[in-house]
Amino acid sequence: MTDVASQGPEPGDDRPVLTNRQGHQVYDNQNQRTVGARGPATLENYQFLEKISHFDRERIPERVVHARGAVAFGYFESYGKWGDEPISTYTRAKLFQEPGKRTDVAVRFSTVIGGRDSSEAARDPRGFAIKFYTEDGNWDLVGNNLAVFFIRDAIKFPDVIHALKPDPVTFRQEPNRIFDFMSQTPEAMHMLVNLFSPRGIPADYRHMQGFGVNTYKWVDAEGRTHLVKYHWMPKAGVKSLTEADAAVIQATELGHATKDLYESIERGDHPEWELLVQLMTDDDHPELDFDPLDDTKVWPEDQFPAKPVGRMVLNRNVDDFFAENEQLAFGTGVLVDGLDFSDDKMLVGRTFSYSDTQRYRVGPNYLQLPVNQARNASVRTNQRDGQMAYHVDGAKNNPHVNYEPSITGGLREGEYPTHDEQGPVIEGRLTRKRIPRTDDYRQAGQRYLLMEQWERDDLVHNLVTMLAQCDRPIQERMVWHFLLVEDELGLRVGEGLGIKPRDVADLPPLASQDLTDEDRERLANLG
Ligand code: HEM
Repeated sequence: MTDVASQGPEPGDDRPVLTNRQGHQVYDNQNQRTVGARGPATLENYQFLEKISHFDRERIPERVVHARGAVAFGYFESYGKWGDEPISTYTRAKLFQEPGKRTDVAVRFSTVIGGRDSSEAARDPRGFAIKFYTEDGNWDLVGNNLAVFFIRDAIKFPDVIHALKPDPVTFRQEPNRIFDFMSQTPEAMHMLVNLFSPRGIPADYRHMQGFGVNTYKWVDAEGRTHLVKYHWMPKAGVKSLTEADAAVIQATELGHATKDLYESIERGDHPEWELLVQLMTDDDHPELDFDPLDDTKVWPEDQFPAKPVGRMVLNRNVDDFFAENEQLAFGTGVLVDGLDFSDDKMLVGRTFSYSDTQRYRVGPNYLQLPVNQARNASVRTNQRDGQMAYHVDGAKNNPHVNYEPSITGGLREGEYPTHDEQGPVIEGRLTRKRIPRTDDYRQAGQRYLLMEQWERDDLVHNLVTMLAQCDRPIQERMVWHFLLVEDELGLRVGEGLGIKPRDVADLPPLASQDLTDEDRERLANLG
């Protein structure tokens, strides 16, 4: 008896024929080859074994953070100037020079803590990562939707993520573990005030801001440097969800933000953001009460106005989720001429971490994949081999020469930049020390005071709900921190937990913090 499905094509069926990866046509995709219709399968069953063994290897490790994300493509268009001042006054990066100049981009929005299939309505920072495919090679700007971060030194990143990820025993995200860590991490207060406010659950990806968070540098044609912070503002406006809104959405849909982005682009409603930068001269700025390289701080916009430098439009969805999202790889080390790192201690740690994890997660030749290639620049290296080496991007003049220097062909070094030495001279002893100006509470308090009443109410409600599930000493330490952030916040969270200022007045400051005079004054008044 012959199976219906293996009877061959209907006359007039002009769909292309299925093959295996060796190019062999598959004439029966329904039945394995067996000895007789009921008999055992044979080991030379090449077509079946290829199919099933490839399937067995379909998953690569998900990203250790930011596992769930949505990708779209489009362009960045530079304004070339703000007012009468050309952007070239501050950076020689080619993508910014001409008004109207367009650069291809890939953007990945993400949640941070949940796994690949987790809810997109979770309270969690959102990733906002952009790959600019410039003529000078790729530039990745890997940011978040919140302007600040939990920690200021990369050495603490595995700890903050372990605390936020599920418990290693129960595999449940446990408020007690999260706030155990946070209560010992005073620099996290500014981030917590943001994360537990409505901004902690963006309505979707089209209605959220983006921030570079870390401090970078711009370099002009003479090698002069400025410190720079990046901001993305959505043209559609900022929208957020309360915990109750989010609960309704995730009761029926875990991927609402991906769906919203995809459908919006499919119907021709192309989301758009404006890129703004804040600039500062490249020095320590002792006159400020914060360190410009501290990613737990924002730069006050009245002192450092945000200048619009271009806009970004997303107009194409992925053709394939795995090839263009799962294998897409961003990193903070990926900069082009005219852009540079600062000494921000988070940024240097991040810069090692991204390409390190991508060599593990995707493989050592991840930069040969189409979505990661510097597609608008020439790529010529002497790198060879490794798993999944796909093509040779070396010299055409003598393919035997995969080394440099050589007098028989191969690749040569580029022109030395006229201003290779740039930025201030740095001196110091090797040490392990906190930065001098930590000031962990002032900006968190200012943020609280800037909130509308409903946002304050939501923040207090969210904190009390989470802290109610924590041990008493953790609750007390958090109330102590919030009293230092802003009296009203501390009093309201304390009231929700049944903790009065006098209950925490005798708690000693943490060894991991430096208090300002204002903090000491607040402490003295707690009792
Ligand atoms: C993803 C490390 C801080 C934004 C990742 C990944 C790692 C990582 C290992 C996974 C990358 C991959 O598998 O391709 C770190 C370390 C940090 C840090 C070590 C601190 C020292 C931050 C901060 C931000 C941020 C402060 C925001 C400014 C992102 C984003 C992604 C990401 C947006 C997802 C990129 C994508 O969509 O593929 N991070 N991260 N990270 N990180 Fe960080």
